[in-house]
Amino acid sequence: MKLREITPNVYLGGAVDWDRRLFDSLIPLPQGTSYNAYVVRGSERTALLDTVDPPKWETLKAQLADFPTIDYVIHHHGEQDHSGSLPFVLELYPEATVVTNEKCKKELIDHLHVPEDRFQTIKDGEDLSLGDKTLHFIFTPWVHWPETFSTFLVEDGILFSCDFFGSHLATTDMYATGAVVDGAAKRYYAEIMMPFAPQVAKDVAKVAEHPVRIIAPSHGPLYDHPAAIMDAYREWTTGEPRNLAVIAYVTMHESTRLIVDHLTAALADRGVAVERFDLTTVDLGELAMALVDAASIVIGTPTVIRGPHPLASYAAVVANALKPKATHATVVGSFGWAGKTVEKLTELMGDLKVELYDPVMVKGMPRGEDYDQLDVLADRIAKAHKDLRPR
Ligand code: FEO
Repeated sequence: MKLREITPNVYLGGAVDWDRRLFDSLIPLPQGTSYNAYVVRGSERTALLDTVDPPKWETLKAQLADFPTIDYVIHHHGEQDHSGSLPFVLELYPEATVVTNEKCKKELIDHLHVPEDRFQTIKDGEDLSLGDKTLHFIFTPWVHWPETFSTFLVEDGILFSCDFFGSHLATTDMYATGAVVDGAAKRYYAEIMMPFAPQVAKDVAKVAEHPVRIIAPSHGPLYDHPAAIMDAYREWTTGEPRNLAVIAYVTMHESTRLIVDHLTAALADRGVAVERFDLTTVDLGELAMALVDAASIVIGTPTVIRGPHPLASYAAVVANALKPKATHATVVGSFGWAGKTVEKLTELMGDLKVELYDPVMVKGMPRGEDYDQLDVLADRIAKAHKDLRPR
């Protein structure tokens, strides 16, 4: 696509990556993604804000054809999906200065070997004048890395937020529609921002001090009604968990499935909403989205060589890394002769601030007394969820 005008002399560029299906060799991209770059042309100087993933450099290069001069390249974040084409930009514009903070400068030197003499470092709250347009820098750490910051274009009320408020969504829409906030944007928050939720909440409050009319992230569509996405971020970061149990499970010979089936029904009978994820086919993003709201996490697994099934370990590691706001967790499953399945899984979830319900581990296929134990577990979960908001 060509550059698209957002406001006079402010343009959306970059590339839509329609067919990419995996990010960081980890995160599914069912709807593709985009790498947004922006051009702000002031009366005296011109700035490029972020670049694109290197395979998309030719797209950005073509968009820059009408700009014989780029004075500044503002780099909000060191990750290569935005910074990877910076060396090409600096070769194309030998006079351009990279404007970023000290932390990001170090990352760009480490990851891309950008020469040190190409940088101008800025501090939190500093302004950079382009003539009739002013870039105001707001440090917003941990959205997504510690160096990440945002830029507020004062005269136009545009917040360039990089990963913050982004979504992995390939679209021809310049602005987000209603479905994006609870869909691609929530998925993105869950996968990228949730581990840093307390800091992200502070970042939301910090950018909200400015009269933001448009949010322009570096992935996915822009927001011309910023309140919806900002309110959603407030809810996701600081809202109480909801009456929702997430059950992530894997089964080998159906015993764990019988256990999970019974627990699912018992919870539903007690008014607890359940989202279930078969770990052999799970979309990590769907699991992460459910973890944004869940109050209880249940991992279901058979015992494999004295420990959990590797897919159950994977789920525990993911939950531990994402640091959701759940208050309770437990393990259910089966074993043949012995094992340390519960101990190993709870250790893998050791960073979560959760109270553990008593686990239910069944020898072989569940019998009547095992189902009774699952009913007791369901009672405990329902009691813990008693005063929570519906999902
Ligand atoms: Fe879109 Fe953290 O890079």
